[in-house]
Amino acid sequence: MAHESTDAARTLTFEIFRFNPEQPEVEPHLQSFELDETPYMTLFLALNRIREEQDPSLQFDFACRSAVCGSCGMLVNGRPRLACNTLTRDLPDVIRLHPLPAFQLIGDLSVDTGVWFREMHRRVESWVHERAPFDPEAPEERMDDELAQAIYEGERCIECGCCVAGCGVANVNPRFVGAAGMNRIARFMTDPRDARSDEDWFDVVSTEDGVFGCVGLMACHDVCPKGLPLLEVYAYLRRRMLGAGLSRGGSNELLQIEAA
Ligand code: SF4
Ligand code: SF4
Ligand code: FES
Repeated sequence: MAHESTDAARTLTFEIFRFNPEQPEVEPHLQSFELDETPYMTLFLALNRIREEQDPSLQFDFACRSAVCGSCGMLVNGRPRLACNTLTRDLPDVIRLHPLPAFQLIGDLSVDTGVWFREMHRRVESWVHERAPFDPEAPEERMDDELAQAIYEGERCIECGCCVAGCGVANVNPRFVGAAGMNRIARFMTDPRDARSDEDWFDVVSTEDGVFGCVGLMACHDVCPKGLPLLEVYAYLRRRMLGAGLSRGGSNELLQIEAA
């Protein structure tokens, strides 16, 4: 429920997950902190105040404070969100914070998303595979505005990990490329400068670690803080892979996605 800034000031209770892997003798637990709400308070401001005023050992990550760097993802009352652009007035009196699941825990609310994303990029070879060697003397080729915009749309991902944390499949299969990976693949499939054909992509995407592993309930789409059209990305990949698969003679898996 939203609470307008004109409301009487609330005292918020933060129940925060605490665990330091370097002190395994202290069991993971929730620790409560109370804080008076101030107008336009974000979770970033609240956590900083808790660290400055109540417990300097609290671990969490922030850098840009403006939904650009992707480092402040966490579970807020069970839902993946960016803490820097989440206002406390949109949350109830009791705010429960956990680290994003599916990523390596550094401590408390801090996770290492870099390991997961680096591995995903390595596996999907997340760079343009040039059709011809780069020639610095060649005139720049023009690109249709709409196509450039479609590629730019895929580049808006800030790698916050919210879609991965909210995905049941990614939580049980660390090799699953997740919505962030599928978005990345679609970005290169769209790019005419990339030499990879649908046949090449089929070998990368058409496994249970790729589009066939996705159960399509679109939690990723719902939680993406940048509003990426992950539903459309998923449909686009299915269409392209269905075509590539059928040209190979089809398979049971393809018939199942066609029916889905
Ligand atoms: S649709 Fe569901 S299974 Fe597929 S990537 Fe999104 S959250 Fe995961
Ligand atoms: S697709 Fe959205 S939720 Fe997933 S990592 Fe990128 S910005 Fe975050
Ligand atoms: S601090 Fe950069 S996205 Fe939140």
